[in-house]
Amino acid sequence: MMDYAIERRVTPEQYIELLNSSGLGERRPVHDRQAIARMLEHANLLATAWDGEVLAGAARCFTDFAYVTYCSDLCVRRECQRQGIGIELLRTVLRAAPCRIVLLAAPKAVDYYPRIGFTQHPSAWTILPGELV
Ligand SMILES: CC(C)(COP(=O)(O)OP(=O)(O)OC[C@H]1O[C@@H](n2cnc3c(N)ncnc32)[C@H](O)[C@@H]1OP(=O)(O)O)[C@@H](O)C(=O)NCCC(=O)NCCS
Repeated sequence: MMDYAIERRVTPEQYIELLNSSGLGERRPVHDRQAIARMLEHANLLATAWDGEVLAGAARCFTDFAYVTYCSDLCVRRECQRQGIGIELLRTVLRAAPCRIVLLAAPKAVDYYPRIGFTQHPSAWTILPGELV
């Protein structure tokens, strides 16, 4: 039985371990504990899945609770993947913040989001520091 929670405390160490065990660690600053601590501190909606005391998955989001939620990380540890935990985490986010979710798919998850009902947006844009003209 998996327990789902909103705002249950997650330490940087637990989160780094989850990122690494899901595969998403390749694309997040897992070697910078301070950055991970800030990522956890400033996200304002964190849905988590727990197998007892083991963090099995998380959706780390920023939301205004009215119009839009940006889901920055969605990850499930490898041995727990494809058991519906990713979808349940997104359902948990939508219950807490019933508005549009926006996200960038990691390369390995590009086929996941259309499969579970997401629509690809033809006009999504990003910019990095230093790129603004
Ligand atoms: C992508 C991820 C979050 C999906 O979570 P999950 O709990 O494994 O997926 P679910 O059980 O909710 O899957 C729902 C459906 O999507 C399918 N699916 C899961 N991962 C998929 C993928 N990468 N590509 C295509 N389909 C996928 C499942 O097979 C399932 O379909 P089914 O019901 O017909 O069997 C998880 O696999 C993960 O953490 N991957 C590594 C990190 C990553 O890439 N995260 C995305 C960042 S944007």
